[in-house]
Amino acid sequence: MSLQWHEFASKDELDLNLAHYIAAQLQQAIAERGTASLAVSGGRTPAGMFKALRASDVEWSKVYITLVDERWVPNDHADSNERLTRENLLQDGAAAANFISMVNDAATPHAGLAGIEARLSVIKTPIDILILGMGDDGHTASLFPNAVELEQACASTQLVAAVTPPVAPHQRITLTLPTIVQARNVLVHITGTGKKELLNTAMQEQKAITELYPIRRVLDQVKSTAQVYWTA
Ligand code: 6PG
Repeated sequence: MSLQWHEFASKDELDLNLAHYIAAQLQQAIAERGTASLAVSGGRTPAGMFKALRASDVEWSKVYITLVDERWVPNDHADSNERLTRENLLQDGAAAANFISMVNDAATPHAGLAGIEARLSVIKTPIDILILGMGDDGHTASLFPNAVELEQACASTQLVAAVTPPVAPHQRITLTLPTIVQARNVLVHITGTGKKELLNTAMQEQKAITELYPIRRVLDQVKSTAQVYWTA
């Protein structure tokens, strides 16, 4: 079974439709279980969708929010995914109150891992909605091709793993592959024809090279339900 693609004519249309879908899914989770959980990715893509989601009528006081992955920088650093999320999604006090940070004051993600693991335990898995981005190298979350800890982060029984990407300015902390694929609803949010072609290549290549495309390792396990939201 192949991935479900949703293509939109513009970034604004993509952001509005994805935000509308996420809001509806969060409200359905709240109706069914009393609370909902949302894990968002960072990078440059999501800011517009975050703003549209912030404007929705989600009952944020009932939603636990965290990150799929984070750069190991202070949460006011220009490269912080938490800063991006706070500035664009968490303007509502209730949403901000339920945000679970993926950084602490440990010097490295390896040193901080146990504390973050304990902090995240308030989120009951499976996470309801999990939004993935994809890098131009096929990485998703902080599962990077050729990263030393890629196999560990793909096999870990923990919620999070520490990763030192092969080429990136920061060490990372990431939800592990088992945590990601457990999510009830995995959404891939990408833009540009280059990423569409890369994702199609990753999904068509023979199994043997899936380690080159970590997003393939994720989507192989959720492709019957995962949805891709994309615009050129
Ligand atoms: C991160 C995430 C990554 C991100 C992609 C897409 O950078 O924190 O690890 O998975 O979602 O790199 O990033 P862009 O939206 O900037 O292309």
